[in-house]
Amino acid sequence: MDEPSRFPARSTPPVGIVMGSDSDLPTMEPAVAMVQRFGVGCEVRILSAHRTPLEMVDYGCTAAERGLKVIVAGAGGAAHLPGMMASLTVLPVIGVPVQSKALAGVDSLYSIAQMPAGVPVATVAIGNGANAGLLAVQILATADPRLTEQLRQYRDGLRAMVREKDGRLHHGA
Ligand code: RP5
Repeated sequence: MDEPSRFPARSTPPVGIVMGSDSDLPTMEPAVAMVQRFGVGCEVRILSAHRTPLEMVDYGCTAAERGLKVIVAGAGGAAHLPGMMASLTVLPVIGVPVQSKALAGVDSLYSIAQMPAGVPVATVAIGNGANAGLLAVQILATADPRLTEQLRQYRDGLRAMVREKDGRLHHGA
């Protein structure tokens, strides 16, 4: 019998988090954690642009009609998944360049960021799944005052954390 999924999906959630391989999971789990932190549902899939291209096309082509609102796509090396997702749907796609062994993720970054005019991918820093999840929440927050308020509180928390560190450094507090 199959193990129960760590990332169960009920009805279609607003965020789809996809990646090219299970080796991308350590980079993408922070994206899952971030959207869940804001109480936003997500579904998580492994869809390879090169190894399972037909599944990738099906996912991208049906994403909007199924009710997804934003897609986070992570891939490494010849990182075509985010760009292909963006070519298959008009939903916003956020790309996460996964750090590669050979080229430290610079290959992934260039592959994801250098999209042609007309088909953008919003690209975060190499390995920064958390920021991708946060940006997905920010996109959803444009139509959700509850999320907007939660994001304000999140920023307040960041500010308080830095001020506290600054205080300790300068005043020995
Ligand atoms: C890409 O190739 C994946 O996104 C992954 O980052 C990379 C390596 O995949 P594995 O060989 O570890 O499955 O498609």
